[in-house]
Amino acid sequence: MDSQIAEPDAAARIASIPIEEIDVARPSLFQNDTIGLFFDRLRAEEPVHYCRESYVGPYWSITKFDDIMAVDTNHKVFSSEAKLGGIAIQDMHSVEGALELEMFIAMDPPKHDQQRKAVTPAVAPSNLQLLEPIIRKRAGEILDELPIGEDFDWVDKVAIELTTMTLATLFDFPWEERRKLTRWSDVATAAPETGIVESYEARREELIGCAMYFKTLWDERINEEPKNDLISMMAHSPATRDMPFLEFLGNLMLLIVGGNDTTRNSISGGVLALNQSPDEYAKLDADPSLISKMVPEIIRWQTPLTHMRRTALEDWEIGGKQIKKGDKVVMWYLSGNRDESAIERADQFIIDRKNPRHHLSFGYGIHRCMGNRLAELQLRIIWEEIHKRFSRVEVTGEPERLFSNLVRGITRLPVRLRAR
Ligand code: HEM
Repeated sequence: MDSQIAEPDAAARIASIPIEEIDVARPSLFQNDTIGLFFDRLRAEEPVHYCRESYVGPYWSITKFDDIMAVDTNHKVFSSEAKLGGIAIQDMHSVEGALELEMFIAMDPPKHDQQRKAVTPAVAPSNLQLLEPIIRKRAGEILDELPIGEDFDWVDKVAIELTTMTLATLFDFPWEERRKLTRWSDVATAAPETGIVESYEARREELIGCAMYFKTLWDERINEEPKNDLISMMAHSPATRDMPFLEFLGNLMLLIVGGNDTTRNSISGGVLALNQSPDEYAKLDADPSLISKMVPEIIRWQTPLTHMRRTALEDWEIGGKQIKKGDKVVMWYLSGNRDESAIERADQFIIDRKNPRHHLSFGYGIHRCMGNRLAELQLRIIWEEIHKRFSRVEVTGEPERLFSNLVRGITRLPVRLRAR
């Protein structure tokens, strides 16, 4: 057992750890869901906290809402650059034999701004509205197949399936092969120690296969009339059509990766949150028009990406602490989203908040999630379709969580459905 896990009296044991020894990078704390207690303590006692020793090396934790905003909006001092370590607490390494895709999420201006500007029109709300009826129809088909009154795993049967379906719809990807998208997304972010790929060489092979597949789709679409899918839009748009192929591929992978785990875990996280707050489930039942407010609240509550990391380009002071040039600075969105000084009753899931978009799950500043409206659209459609069919998605057992300090994931969620 991890020495920082303290069951059954978790709060008392965590309170007794010397503050300088607290290390919130440990993936086990996210897997056993005790991480919130650590963040509560840091926010109260040392909101800007330095961890000297950890398996990811030394790092600063920024845990309060306003301090996170200050770092996220200060890209001149806090860099996302891949070669300095990138955007996750664990450094991005250049590994020989690995195919490194360049993605603008891990770039600083001016390159970041140019690439983001080129791809943004692909996810403009006006374009996405055109996809809404197809996403709705396919979501309905998946939900209609589900067993009523029988236990099954929501993650496997619904969350993964719906996310894959929406990705395939967005790209107008050959329908029968849609699980390839899920696989490539997993592979793109995988290191061999995750067990998803055997070696960097195997990963490289798969990503080359992915590149060739997309090249074929790109070549087909560029010779057809423009359509509403993201590949056709990028192939025809003056801003993106002349992009070098590897750059196109990097951006495409970013759209796939960005929308995969995050949406999947928001779908499962919403079911869990409603079950843990029965009064909120009753509110939803009585008034389904609350879904559009509930969706951002689910995204705050789940915080599908726990953090983004930056590297300091110069000495800088935050919260009375002196950060040095070259230091690793981690903005814990999961903690900022529970900060009572910025969000009223932050530790409660409330589906009719006045200002539900006031959260950090999409980040802030120049890297603020490009797909945020798309994510909300998908989740709204999915919840509307769930509500039409089922009076309850009842959680019947303990959820299992992902061993990761970056993706806040639910890997298994036993449920039973009641038909409406
Ligand atoms: C960036 C979260 C869905 C595409 C980000 C960032 C976060 C995030 C935290 C970095 C923000 C920062 O550094 O300040 C989420 C969450 C989602 C979601 C919680 C779902 C609930 C999506 C979807 C797409 C997407 C569906 C697909 C279009 C991107 C892209 C970036 C990004 C392209 C990079 C933006 C940049 O660097 O300028 N997202 N995301 N995301 N996301 Fe999302």
